[in-house]
Amino acid sequence: MSELSGRTIVLGVGGGIAAYKACELARLFVKGGATVRVAMTTAATRFVGPLTFQALSGAPVLTDVLDPGQERTYGHLELGRAADLLVIAPATADLLARLRAGMADDAVTTTALACDCPVLLAPAMNVRMWSSPAVRENVAALEKRGWQTVGPASGALADGDVGPGRLSEPEEIAAAAARLLGPRDLSGRKVVVTAGPTREPIDPVRFISNPSTGRMGFALAKVAARRGAKVVLVAGPVELPDPIKVKVKRVETAEEMAAAVDDEAGDLDLFVGAAAVSDYRPRDVAAQKKKKTDEDEPLVLTRTPDILASIGKRFAGKAGAPVVVGFAAETEGLLENAKKKLASKRCDLVVANKVGRPGAGFAGDRNRVVLVGPGERSHVEGTKEAVAEAILDWAVELLDNRRPR
Ligand SMILES: Cc1cc2nc3c(=O)[nH]c(=O)nc-3n(C[C@H](O)[C@H](O)[C@H](O)COP(=O)(O)O)c2cc1C
Repeated sequence: MSELSGRTIVLGVGGGIAAYKACELARLFVKGGATVRVAMTTAATRFVGPLTFQALSGAPVLTDVLDPGQERTYGHLELGRAADLLVIAPATADLLARLRAGMADDAVTTTALACDCPVLLAPAMNVRMWSSPAVRENVAALEKRGWQTVGPASGALADGDVGPGRLSEPEEIAAAAARLLGPRDLSGRKVVVTAGPTREPIDPVRFISNPSTGRMGFALAKVAARRGAKVVLVAGPVELPDPIKVKVKRVETAEEMAAAVDDEAGDLDLFVGAAAVSDYRPRDVAAQKKKKTDEDEPLVLTRTPDILASIGKRFAGKAGAPVVVGFAAETEGLLENAKKKLASKRCDLVVANKVGRPGAGFAGDRNRVVLVGPGERSHVEGTKEAVAEAILDWAVELLDNRRPR
């Protein structure tokens, strides 16, 4: 399982009878070359001693977020920050409910809230608990958030019942973790992503902008970093926190965004233009707030720099030119416009995004897009992270077939 090597896996252990199997899981992660850190619920410490996990992982175990010793290094945030993957095994019925509610009442739930990485749940409980509507709803809600589950397996349970409820075997959980961590196929590559809207000032208190939230671009930056890339994220004004392990440059206007991209473009391997850059800006920006009058107020607009086209132009025909991915947010003529953009901006791939309908485009955690390449296209629908994975899969293939520098 080479995917585990060099990654940091945080193992959250819940208080169920299967907690002893989490010891074997920790051992498998260590054997696969991962750095393992363990967080336990209070109930979990009643089933297996933290000392066992400390010995297996070679690191202190987080069991109490209110313990001054454990909190010396902000233990309740430290694990979430370090994690490439959070695996919760066994995920008890109680823990699933607390995770769904967003509680932060112990080491596992707090770490889950503070992490910004994929989460794998391995539920284990009595067969009737597993089939209860409450547990079903909690699992469905967590899956809708993009969290993955493995198991439970079916068979004889410790309590004498038979059916689904057994913790999946540690080997199976480790294999699911490896799948979720995915390949480090962007390692050694530099990726620049733009995200969010731009703001083009009219006067010191007014501007032209659009409703982009930056979520698609932030998901791309996050997933590219997870896949090993050195990532620079050039973000317009959005309310999202900096993704972990990503260099973030915050800008306001299209001109500032173009300058920041230009600064970073020298050794670029992949450029993804996910920002909704304003095509126009007011030609004259008033130095003071404009006063209202009873007359109409004409506003003359002038073009902003075309960031995507200038990347395409800068590297046209050069060996080792970066792969360029553009976004086309359209309200009509989706595919025609995407194909036009592919050619006119010298893009290798255009992500066509129909905006102005629910379930896609601006805001929301999900997206529905068509990936349009010169000869093929594919439809992708899912969380913005899943869409980011599909875009990067395509980009990696293009990078692997690129003319060397
Ligand atoms: C012997 C024993 C075994 C248990 N096994 C499970 C189990 O497999 N799954 C589960 O959801 N709860 C199980 N429980 C109940 C949990 O321990 C209880 O709900 C606890 O509050 C879970 O705490 P946690 O979610 O913070 O770890 C078991 C309880 C006992 C006494």
